Amino acid sequence: MVRNPAATALEITVEVRPEPQAAECLRRWVKQLRRQRYTPEAIQQVFGIRSADELGAAEREVWGTRLAERTDPLSVWLQLFWLERPVRYELLAGHADQLLESGLQAGLFQRCGRSVRASLRAEPVSGAIVWADHRFEDVARTSMLRQHGGPVYPPGADSLMLAEIVPHFATGRMLDLCTGSGVLALIIARGGNKVVGVDIDPRAVEVAQLNAEANGLKSARFLLGDLYAPVAGERFHCIVANPPFVCSPYANGPRYHSGGPLGDQVLRRIVAGFSPHLHRGGKALAISHVGLRQGESLADRARTWLSHFDGRCLVAEFARADAASFVAQQATFALAEGMASFRREFRRWLQFLRRHRVHEIAAVLVAVERTGTNFIEVVSAKPVVVPVPLNKSAIQVVREWWTH
Ligand SMILES: C[S@@+](CC[C@H](N)C(=O)[O-])C[C@H]1O[C@@H](n2cnc3c(N)ncnc32)[C@H](O)[C@@H]1O
Repeated sequence: MVRNPAATALEITVEVRPEPQAAECLRRWVKQLRRQRYTPEAIQQVFGIRSADELGAAEREVWGTRLAERTDPLSVWLQLFWLERPVRYELLAGHADQLLESGLQAGLFQRCGRSVRASLRAEPVSGAIVWADHRFEDVARTSMLRQHGGPVYPPGADSLMLAEIVPHFATGRMLDLCTGSGVLALIIARGGNKVVGVDIDPRAVEVAQLNAEANGLKSARFLLGDLYAPVAGERFHCIVANPPFVCSPYANGPRYHSGGPLGDQVLRRIVAGFSPHLHRGGKALAISHVGLRQGESLADRARTWLSHFDGRCLVAEFARADAASFVAQQATFALAEGMASFRREFRRWLQFLRRHRVHEIAAVLVAVERTGTNFIEVVSAKPVVVPVPLNKSAIQVVREWWTH
């Protein structure tokens, strides 16, 4: 355990050290998956999508059935680690006999009859393989980890969006707040920058540390704590954050999920820490939902977070939905328990938003640069893609804004 001298008694900084056997097991699997081209390009080529967020339940069944008919290694790894489906023991043993046995011993795999399931999923992102908990299937917790905690967020469309921007603004010493699996910190470390990742969940910190070791990235370090507490008194050249941001009623759900009724509960604390934790000229980037009340504009809300920041700020809105459409899309998780369960969750969620007078939800990227003078721009970067892409994506808008 390492104590940060600037932290108070309640804010003890802890470095989590994973089991060496677990790190070795994941490292060998990373090598194997890389050798057999388990890459973002392969995902795009096979499934025609980039993020598992885009895969509906029915499509997942179709793909599972299609891939089950193939026996080449890549198809097997995609079934096991991306679609989260069981694979026949003999088929897996045929491709990776020793790795399978050591994976079973380390707790990466579980036997289910004549098949094997992986207890973590593997997401290929920018040359790294990122291990995290499942997004589709509930499986028994892996015995690989020493730390208890909630499920570790598997990189989603939000993570991948930030991952596309981060390499373009990474310089010097970086801070990744709400690091989860450590995906963004790993991308930064791959680019050669030193990075500290912070998460409030000990299990996430252990997985992030395992991911760094498994991918051979030594310049990423992970600390347990509440936002800036483990780095109190320190300044960085860049900060990136993907906080829990969904406007949701599930305050007791996974720690990666709810950003309170207005989505910005954690974001506003992150933004408040930009000035004291950025060097002069330093940059920061965050992503969030913003629940808007009747008559409230995004600019009104943005000013409540950003008006005290001593620099220029960009809020790029890339999606917006009314409360009912938002809830219908978000509550699909309940379909696993049937239509009645979906309806119940839908009503409960919508009532919650109505009680808080939220009538629209915007999705935004927030970019800042500590230039000295406060200036806030709010722009629309909602995709206009019919019949062809007609405007710049939010990713492009933010990248270009950095270079101005
Ligand atoms: C949406 S996940 C993002 C994970 C990862 N950065 C990514 O992009 O995939 C949010 C993470 O924030 C962490 N978290 C929530 N509240 C926090 C807090 N107050 N301080 C630090 N981490 C927090 C959660 O444990 C979770 O791992």
